[in-house]
Amino acid sequence: MTNYHIGFSCLVCGTEHAADYDGYVCKECEGKLDADYDYHAMSDEFSVDSLKSNPDRTVWRYAPAFPFSDVANVPRLFMGITPIYRNRDLEAKTGVNEVYLKDDSRLPSASFKDRASSVVMTVAIEKGIDKVACASTGNAGCSWACMGAACGMPVIIFVPASAPKAKIAQLGVYGADVRQVDGTYDDAFQLCAEECEEHGYFNRNTGFNPFTREGKKSVSFEIWEQLGFKAPGSVFVPVGDGNIISGVWKGFRDLKQLGLIEELPAIYAVQSDASAAIARTIRKIQSGDGDADNIQLETVSANTRADSIAVDSPSDGVAAVKAVIETGGDAVTVSDDDILDTIPELASSTGIFAEPAGVTSITGLKAHSDSDAEIPGPAVCLVTGNGLKDVEAVLER
Ligand SMILES: Cc1ncc(COP(=O)(O)O)c(C=O)c1O
Ligand SMILES: [Zn+2]
Repeated sequence: MTNYHIGFSCLVCGTEHAADYDGYVCKECEGKLDADYDYHAMSDEFSVDSLKSNPDRTVWRYAPAFPFSDVANVPRLFMGITPIYRNRDLEAKTGVNEVYLKDDSRLPSASFKDRASSVVMTVAIEKGIDKVACASTGNAGCSWACMGAACGMPVIIFVPASAPKAKIAQLGVYGADVRQVDGTYDDAFQLCAEECEEHGYFNRNTGFNPFTREGKKSVSFEIWEQLGFKAPGSVFVPVGDGNIISGVWKGFRDLKQLGLIEELPAIYAVQSDASAAIARTIRKIQSGDGDADNIQLETVSANTRADSIAVDSPSDGVAAVKAVIETGGDAVTVSDDDILDTIPELASSTGIFAEPAGVTSITGLKAHSDSDAEIPGPAVCLVTGNGLKDVEAVLER
């Protein structure tokens, strides 16, 4: 198999880095890096015809667009194409012509994060790494520990001690070395970076490790294929660090580079109003107070019940803001009450049980349509984490 990954470009200053660059961030300005590919060479292996004749029903059908050389190295877990469901209730409520829910609560560790962890783990294996680490609000760590267990890779996880019990249990049962941090996710992130630096562990920290975005982009390939090889009009994404949304953006940018779509969908960042660093940054730019060419991220003191999106200083914030501004999307903020109400509404009307962050995209779509904004259809809401990961969110109500 050919690895078409040819290097990285800094999302802030544009400096190019070789494919074998072993830093995580830009060597000039510490901006986050974006992976570049030889799209021309890739296009024979990644095309409508090649996909139509490919019987593989997992994300590995998109292997030419991932930054590794041999699909034999991927974790032995079913990284299946996740279901996409049309939802006529939401169409009636929002007036959008077609609304779809993309159910990523069904991946191996029950969250979207498996898209990143499976790809980053494969990269780590090909680099000959023997110990890896990650900070997490819960799900990224569970997913990293899950992939580590499947590959026999020792994993260290830094997680706030306040994370939901099910997530802490999940980390332990996969055999990870769990370091519970008496502090916020941002504290855990910093601690993980320091330990990795000191001991030479490979750091999967979300947004910091450029391969996380590369794994997450597969959701866009799936949506495009599931909609009949067409881009949707809009995608609604729950946002914390901003790495899922930047992965969505990257996937559609890849498809455009490959000549497979003409326009990117409008990308909407949905945040809790109690953890809205990215939304605030976008609004500042929209109001003329901020500069889209020199993005200065706002920081907050996050305090949302949707623990997975509680982030003070988003690590992939610059890419997230670009994803929204450059695609003509928008920032949407919603209350924790509205997020928590969406959980039983969704479960009882569709059979999909998602955690608070996992339903936030749907809460955002409804809120945005209530504001009379024009939402390009089809609209896709990402459902990013399983409800069993945080049953207290339901029991406490
Ligand atoms: C269920 C769920 N939804 C959404 C997110 C937000 O992703 P990001 O932090 O990349 O913005 C996370 C991150 O942990 C998550 O676990
Ligand atoms: Zn730079």
